[in-house]
This record gives sequence, C-alpha cells and structure tokens, in this order.
Amino acid sequence: MTDIPQTMAAMVLTGHGGLDKLEYREDFPTPVPGDGEVLIKVSACGMNNTDINTRIGWYSKAVREGTHADGGTKGFDEVSDGDGAWGSGLVFPRIQGADVCGHVVAVGGDVDQSLMGRRVIVDTWLRDWSDPMNMDKCGYYGSEVDGGYAQFTKVLARHALPVESDLADAEIATFATSYITAENMLQRGAVGEGDTVLVPGASGGVGSALIQLAKRRGATVIALSGEAKAGQVKSVGADYVLPRGPEDLRAAIEQATGRAEVDVVADVVGGPLWPQMIEVLCRGGRYTCAGAIAGPIVEFDLRTFYLNDHTYTGATIVPPGMFDDLVGYIERGEIKPLLARTWALSELREAQEAFLQKDHVGNFVIVPPDSQVP
Ligand SMILES: NC(=O)c1ccc[n+]([C@@H]2O[C@H](COP(=O)([O-])OP(=O)(O)OC[C@H]3O[C@@H](n4cnc5c(N)ncnc54)[C@H](OP(=O)(O)O)[C@@H]3O)[C@@H](O)[C@H]2O)c1
Repeated sequence: MTDIPQTMAAMVLTGHGGLDKLEYREDFPTPVPGDGEVLIKVSACGMNNTDINTRIGWYSKAVREGTHADGGTKGFDEVSDGDGAWGSGLVFPRIQGADVCGHVVAVGGDVDQSLMGRRVIVDTWLRDWSDPMNMDKCGYYGSEVDGGYAQFTKVLARHALPVESDLADAEIATFATSYITAENMLQRGAVGEGDTVLVPGASGGVGSALIQLAKRRGATVIALSGEAKAGQVKSVGADYVLPRGPEDLRAAIEQATGRAEVDVVADVVGGPLWPQMIEVLCRGGRYTCAGAIAGPIVEFDLRTFYLNDHTYTGATIVPPGMFDDLVGYIERGEIKPLLARTWALSELREAQEAFLQKDHVGNFVIVPPDSQVP
C-alpha cells in the first residue's frame, strides 16, 4: 500500500509565457479522488509540443508564426491569459502533462476496487459522459484539468485504462497524445490499404506515430524529416524519407517513388511548404491536419482544392472508443515506443528547451521523484 503524502512535487504552470512560468513546487496539495475517481501515482509522463503551445499561448489568433525555439522559450507578448488556450476552461495555476502511465493507489466512492494497484494509461480526452458525442463539452487532460507533471494525479476511473504489456512505464508514457492524435488524423483522412500518405514532421511525436499507424493500416508512407534524422525515421517504418525542405516536393516524390502524387497528406507542420504539400495531392486526395508547428497562416489556392475534388479534415477531438483501440494496439505490440530520453520532473524546463531544438526522434518523457512501482 502506497503512503499518500498530503503534498507532492509538481511542475506548475502559472500563466502564459516563457519557461519562467513553469514553477517546480514540492508542497503542492496531493489531489484527493472524489466519487467515480481514482488517484494515480505517476511513474512517467510524456511531453508534447501541445504543452509548449499552451504555455506560450500559441493558440491565440494574435500569434501568426510557428512554434520555434525563440517563441517557445520566451513566449509571445501579444498573448493574454484569456485567449491563449486551444479551447475554453484553462485556468492557472495548472499542472500540465497528458501522457501518464502510473499505478492506481486510491479510489473514490463508486469505483471498482479491482483497479487498485493496476498499471494504467490515462485516456486524455475528457467528456461529459452523459453527452459523450458533444465536442463542445470536451476538454483535455493536463489542460482543462490538472495532469501528470506531478507525483500524483486524479482522473475519472473510466479514464484510467489498465494496460497489459512488457513495455516499461516510461515507454507506455510515449503513446497517449501523439498516437491518439495520429490515429484520429488517419481515421478522418480515411487512410486504408493501398493509400500513399505524405507525413511532414515525421521525426516528431505525432509524425512518428503517423508512420507506424499508417503502416498498420496498410498504407505506403513518404516521410519528410530533417536530414540528420532520416535514418532513424526510416527505421520507424517509413517507406521513403525525403528532406523536409525540398526545392520541388513534387519532383522529389516522383524521383523517389515513381509517382508524383500522394493520396493523403497527414500534416502537423503547415508553414511555408504547405502550398507544395497540397499540390502533390491527387484528384480526390485527402488532407488531414492536427497541427501547424512551422506556421498556422498558409497560402491556399481554392482552385487547387475544388478543381481536384479534395477533402480537408481537421482532427483534434477524438471519438469515444478510439483510446481503447490504441490500448489494444499497445497490448498486441502493433506499435512500438520511441523513447528518445527521460528527464526528471524538476528538469522539465531544460527538457522543453531541448525538445524545441528538434534534434531527437520520437518522444521525451518526464519522471517524477520516487516514481517506482508501489
Ligand atoms: N490537434 C491536436 O490534438 C494535437 C495533438 C498533438 C499535437 N498537435 C500539434 O502537432 C504538432 C506536432 O506535435 P508533436 O508533439 O509531434 O511535435 P514534435 O515532436 O516537436 O514534432 C514536430 C516535428 O515537426 C518537424 N518540423 C518541420 N518543420 C518545423 C519547423 N519549422 N519547426 C519545428 N518543427 C518542424 C520537426 O521534424 P524535422 O526536423 O524532422 O522536420 C519536428 O520533429 C504541434 O504543432 C502540436 O501542437 C496537435
């Protein structure tokens, strides 16, 4: 039985801004699980670019540039605390961190006792379970409620999904946000057997997830990545890896694959290359998007869209049940973790600085103090 202290270590976000808005505290009140909730002792919590976007308030319409190292460390002056979040309901102080793997150490009322001691992964999309299809009533764990950059966290019991796998806790913590986002993108883009999918940002968390999950669906993957990371991206499963800033994307794809077009673009990058990504989509092609790390404002020629019968889908809130599917993929070994590095919770600021350099492939994971299995 784990001793549950009244206070815990946590990295607390105190407002939108630079890295100085992250405060490491060792006296944060340990959450107490209410009815229907469980308390999880966090073993590991994966990092995502989303954490940085939320910290710097990148979702504000006042921000017109990508998430780069300078803005990512210092924040943006034009953002106020009221307009920088992806949705509504972000309040400070907030404990971020969505990709939790840990063990259930206490349960509230009306919770199945058999969850006690189980290793779980947190299903990150919060819903009103009396109206689960209503996207307006959805929130994100670690954004609209406190998340896992702490020693303990609480969630509704139905969001604590037991996971049976030989993978280490830190490896399990690489999956949640990247893979659920990627799976939703591929679902929205109706990716299936025989499709050729272009994946920009392929070395990143979502990008490497897109490679694995598109291959799982029987698609061919053309990855774009920084050249130093090309070998690693290929080993994730990409069929072709092209440099991320080609002069002529169409020519590069044709030279590599023998066909100048793709069926699907699965994009979290956007930015200056965006018009070229759209130009390589075949007639009837699908563009599916969940991010714009290289820049949210792009040049869009509507003629390319309608004359080629394209379909464009945004992908953020995932349907109920998809996270359960993801746990199945993990348990059956259909997707592999890409754990680039672990960092101590107290090093989260340094970890974000390193993350912004984009020298790694896959995911960084944060480990709180005293995180061993109870
Ligand atoms: N909608 C959602 O629910 C959702 C969920 C998760 C993430 N996202 C968004 O998706 C994007 C990717 O997230 P992530 O966690 O996968 O990030 P990540 O791990 O940092 O990966 C992003 C990758 O994009 C590539 N890239 C290309 N051009 C870039 C540029 N100008 N600046 C920086 N990187 C560039 C980099 O790879 P190369 O160097 O190899 O090109 C980098 O590895 C972010 O914008 C994130 O906020 C959205």
